[in-house]
Amino acid sequence: MIIPGRKGPYSFGYFISLLLVIRPFSEPKPMSKKPVFKRYTVTSALPYANGPIHIGHLAGVYVPADIYVRFLRMNDEDVIFIGGSDEHGVPITIKALQQGVTPQDIVDRYHGIIKKSFEDFGISFDIYSRTSNKTHHETASAFFRKLYDAGQFIEKVSAQYYDEATGQFLADRYITGTCPHCGFERAYGDQCEKCGTSLNATDLIEPKSVLSGNQPVLRETRHWFLPLDQYESWLREWILEGHKDDWKINVYGQCKSWLDQGLQPRAVTRDLDWGVKVPVDGADGKVLYVWFDAPIGYISATRELTPEWEKYWKDPETKLVHFIGKDNIVFHCIIFPAMLKAEGTYILPENVPANEFLNLEGDKISTSRNWAVWLHEYLEAFPGKQDVLRYVLTSAAPETKDNDFTWKDFQTRNNSELVAILGNFVNRTIVLTHKYFEGKVPGAAAFNAGDLAAMEEMRQIPGRIAESIQNYRFREGLAEMMNLARLGNKYLTENEPWKLFTTDPVRVGTVLHISLQICAQLSIIAEPFLPFSIAKIRHTLNLPSFKWMDAANLNWLTEGHQLNAPELLFEKIEDPAIEAQVQKLHDTRAANEALQAKAPVKPGKEAVGFEDFSKMDIRAGTILEAEKVAKTDKLLKLKIDTGLDQRTVVSGIAKFFNPEDIIGRRVCILVNLAPRKLKGIESQGMILMAENPDGTLFFVTPGEGTIDGADVK
Ligand code: MF3
Ligand code: ZN
Repeated sequence: MIIPGRKGPYSFGYFISLLLVIRPFSEPKPMSKKPVFKRYTVTSALPYANGPIHIGHLAGVYVPADIYVRFLRMNDEDVIFIGGSDEHGVPITIKALQQGVTPQDIVDRYHGIIKKSFEDFGISFDIYSRTSNKTHHETASAFFRKLYDAGQFIEKVSAQYYDEATGQFLADRYITGTCPHCGFERAYGDQCEKCGTSLNATDLIEPKSVLSGNQPVLRETRHWFLPLDQYESWLREWILEGHKDDWKINVYGQCKSWLDQGLQPRAVTRDLDWGVKVPVDGADGKVLYVWFDAPIGYISATRELTPEWEKYWKDPETKLVHFIGKDNIVFHCIIFPAMLKAEGTYILPENVPANEFLNLEGDKISTSRNWAVWLHEYLEAFPGKQDVLRYVLTSAAPETKDNDFTWKDFQTRNNSELVAILGNFVNRTIVLTHKYFEGKVPGAAAFNAGDLAAMEEMRQIPGRIAESIQNYRFREGLAEMMNLARLGNKYLTENEPWKLFTTDPVRVGTVLHISLQICAQLSIIAEPFLPFSIAKIRHTLNLPSFKWMDAANLNWLTEGHQLNAPELLFEKIEDPAIEAQVQKLHDTRAANEALQAKAPVKPGKEAVGFEDFSKMDIRAGTILEAEKVAKTDKLLKLKIDTGLDQRTVVSGIAKFFNPEDIIGRRVCILVNLAPRKLKGIESQGMILMAENPDGTLFFVTPGEGTIDGADVK
């Protein structure tokens, strides 16, 4: 359809209103579902402060949550976005143990790294708190106490695993074993990371202590249990009936399978010294289970953020949404809601849009194996490219199934999508406007069918994106956004304004006018996804930031509006930058394989009392003579000066030492070992040796200054 040509200084908006009379457009629908909620509380899982943030965390939790929140803010919704570090729990104390520092040292270090990397990456928390702080300890403690006083817990003395070698109870991740549900051999005492099932340590098959490697024993200890079984029918109704249609299938499915297996009372306290102390008399040495205190962290953080915190947690007109990864589903859909229900004054989550996992180059991301792309390292390697990673992680988001991140894909999406489509379109439009119209927005004249089709499409896009975001389909929303950039590119290519200027400058004006409006629309609808680049586009277009409800207006730029110079939005990422990242992963893989090849050290042994140990009489001594025992290749016959006497010892060290090399060596010798005969020679004691996992042997040598006969104890 060609509208009869009318050239003149009419605004774009004028034509739109005119066109509305001629041809009815479909109603703009920036928000398809009218929200019934007055405000939003959006939480994102509190990452353990025992390692930095990686792309798996980002794709699964923080990027989608940030898109959602930025979108809500653009809709003028009252929203708070809560984040923080989860600073309790066994992963932290284990890390501290490994590094020989305190748990507080560990969480201070990682909380700092995590908080800064989130800030630099543009995750727009209203607060990023931490669970080791005072407000949280008070909040979690009071929460427990309220349930305790109301008789909501079962107090039970039960048998828990105890490591006799180290003298401590083995909570949660201090114990590993085989998952009774899926057979995974490295399941933890609280959860199987393979199948996601939440476990009690006593469910594990062949349990082993992480501390000593020993099989633990059962010992009695008193704990408080949340009787989840009593919430089962309520949970069934709330989730299985109430959220059948709005929760994601993966989330709903996991919940259903737990509920179908039947819920058991669950201990919410632990015998540990790191965490929120159990606020009950006679509970010394006990803390709240980390999964009891951590979700309360969302509430503590809100209290820190605003004195009006209660309306975000207790008003039924508040929509509570938890962004999490799939391993957190049971805690956010079953245990925390049961806690909130037991407390009685809180709202429940409306939705828990959990994602599946992101893999890296075909392998599961792992903090302990260093198989990850760490956010703080990415930001260093690719400065100013936050949006590239946000874009790639959203397009490859594991929304419905596990997905894979590869550096090749990262490069391709940058080069052939962000650069070639979005950046290219915006740049061409701005450059041409500067070239032909001195950077001033030209007026639009008559619209042809192509123009009208483009505008009709523009009117549809914001509603479609809103619909996607409101339903947690961020990939789909991002794809719609890119479709607008594609549309712009196609529009420019089809109209070829660069060929028309000498013959029809008015038409060029119209084409650039529409192209510029597309840029303006992009600067609105891409904001939740690509906030850094959008700030640049807005600056170039010399526009303020708009609200989402303005996204279908189509009249953001009026004739004569002055643009600024174009800015570089995206740049090509060349092979060497990608190869460097791939090489880094190769190195990690090689290091891991080398580590695996090394046999692990032997597990520890059972505890012995000092009594038993002191029965052994060990002395410093010197080897006086050494010779091979005939007809064996293992044994050496040694003469040792023990300070008490000179005696013969037969020792199985011939494979590692030549007799002539060891004469004069200082050794430690167990002198009161009952004598025994080896190859017909009486051996009167035993030389102490240290043995590596690969079987190589070394003398245990008494220090300089010791005399023969010095007591080793
Ligand atoms: N730290 C947990 C994890 O990384 C998540 C805790 S979420 C919260 O899996 F709800 F407990 F805060
Ligand atoms: Zn399992």
